[in-house]
Amino acid sequence: MKKLVTLEINGKLQELAVEPSESLLQILRKQWNLIGTKRGCDSGGCGCCTVHLDGKAVYSCMVFASSLDKHKVTTIEGLSSGNELDPLQTAFIEEDAVQCGYCTCGMIMTAKEFLAKEDRPDEEQIRHAIAGNLCRCTGYQKIVKAIKVAANR
Ligand code: FES
Ligand code: FES
Repeated sequence: MKKLVTLEINGKLQELAVEPSESLLQILRKQWNLIGTKRGCDSGGCGCCTVHLDGKAVYSCMVFASSLDKHKVTTIEGLSSGNELDPLQTAFIEEDAVQCGYCTCGMIMTAKEFLAKEDRPDEEQIRHAIAGNLCRCTGYQKIVKAIKVAANR
């Protein structure tokens, strides 16, 4: 039986009916067309589905949508303001930290939460922070550099 939940998504209050088995990732992509959040392993092992739940970075594939009544979700689409990108998004572009891009949105969401707590991180801290976000393409060097550049701004 579907459950009615009300939650804030990227600053807008939304009400929707969800199946008990549906994940936050499923509803973001299917019901809200927020396809920046990617489906990779769908089992908590890759990080490409990372969003913020009440300000904390979580794997959206591992969160039941039915548990989110009165909670607040931010996706990559919620980071920019109109045409103005978040400093992390700008740094990823400038530092060429994107190849196929599949990991990028989750990586940025993790980095965003991390930089909110640690504004001048060193390379080791950055690598530790993004350890739960896998990238098959870049070798991580440019991603780490982009996060450092964003932190310095
Ligand atoms: S799709 Fe969620 S962690 Fe891989
Ligand atoms: S850029 Fe392709 S997986 Fe990271």
